[in-house]
Amino acid sequence: MISQKLNDTLTLTGPGTDAGEVMRRYWQPAALVDELAGRRPVVPVKLLGEDLVLFRDSDNKLGLIGRACPHRGADLCFGRLEDNGLRCPFHGWHFNRNGQCVEQPGEPEQSRMHEKIKNVSYPVVEKNGVIFAYLGPDEPPEFPNFDCFRAPATHVFAFKGLWSCNWLQAMEVGIDPAHASFLHRFLEDEDPDDSYGKQFRDKAADTNIPMTKLLRDYPRPEITVEETEYGMRLIALRHLENGKTHVRVTNQIFPEAISIPMSREMIITQWHVPVDDHSCYWYSMFTSFDKPVDKKRMREQRLKEHRLPDYAPIKNKSNNYGFDAEEQNSATYTGMGLDINVHDQWAVESPGPIFDRTKEHLGTTDVAIIQYRKMLRAAIANIKDGKTTALPMLNGVDPAKIVGPISNDTIGDREHWREAFSISDAERRRACSDWDANIS
Ligand code: FES
Ligand SMILES: [Fe+2]
Repeated sequence: MISQKLNDTLTLTGPGTDAGEVMRRYWQPAALVDELAGRRPVVPVKLLGEDLVLFRDSDNKLGLIGRACPHRGADLCFGRLEDNGLRCPFHGWHFNRNGQCVEQPGEPEQSRMHEKIKNVSYPVVEKNGVIFAYLGPDEPPEFPNFDCFRAPATHVFAFKGLWSCNWLQAMEVGIDPAHASFLHRFLEDEDPDDSYGKQFRDKAADTNIPMTKLLRDYPRPEITVEETEYGMRLIALRHLENGKTHVRVTNQIFPEAISIPMSREMIITQWHVPVDDHSCYWYSMFTSFDKPVDKKRMREQRLKEHRLPDYAPIKNKSNNYGFDAEEQNSATYTGMGLDINVHDQWAVESPGPIFDRTKEHLGTTDVAIIQYRKMLRAAIANIKDGKTTALPMLNGVDPAKIVGPISNDTIGDREHWREAFSISDAERRRACSDWDANIS
């Protein structure tokens, strides 16, 4: 357990907060490219507690500017998308993609007042289906060379979902390798051939054992955490009865992303982005080492579970997450259906909007959570001391050399598990013929 003061330090991310200052040193997912696909590409964005509006101008360039009009605060999400910018419907003030006011049609003709009116604006870039924003000081950092960024657009699918809880408890479920044996337990195994686009439903590594069976039969993983240049590598070992060991390698990417294997074909890189202190979006980039991603199928699967335009899950607290006692008795551990996102959503939302960590009791399996909080505290202290260059990935390591990270499930000899996952990952990358996935 931690003090209330430390809980505030780690969880709050609005302007001027400790964790918020850390987040503002990194690119943050702000929207999906899909959200701007309609005839009027203007969407509200709430990010790190800041109210913004994202739009595409007639040069096809993106602008991310303050949502409140600098004149008298009207909502620019209702702006007129015209004249290569966004015009406030209240008095016609017009803003370009950099937030500069370029016209005030109601002011005297010779007025130059608009030159002094500059709305908040932040840099944005598109990366394989996700629009990233940088809300921090100075120049934004370069992107690391992760698989989700270097794979071609055909091999990456992006989606998002809204969770009603603080970003930290959402992220902490992603660095908790033990929960998969319980929360996502299926009492019966599905045909792995029907596993496309789903987590934990493939066969384990190159065996015929369904992942669901392996997780169910071996619920006490041995978890190791290693600090890396991008954050942490988590290794969860499940020692099997035949002298073999199942190795699951996942990652924490500082400050609020994870990278995990989804199936033999795909990995997921997922951010848990604060909307405000009580809600967050997960943004996932699914990256394929094999065939191009079937985006239509992946989108349809997920749209069945989410409502547009805000990507809020259809199963939620208001309908008990679809809980069915009979299903809990016979089919799943949670009784909340087969979509593991719903399980995770219940796990992170039910502790409350910001979990009161003065009441928690961390166990052995929470080793990565403990380690992550140390990293976040160190980053907060370094920013306070003016040592921003001590932060992960901002410390002078060449971003082009920050690759992978290795996210892999494999089975190897008990004594040689470390070699086993490196070899298995390298094989998968070598076999990737559509793009260069090699990392050595
Ligand atoms: S409030 Fe926007 S132009 Fe007046
Ligand atoms: Fe989970």
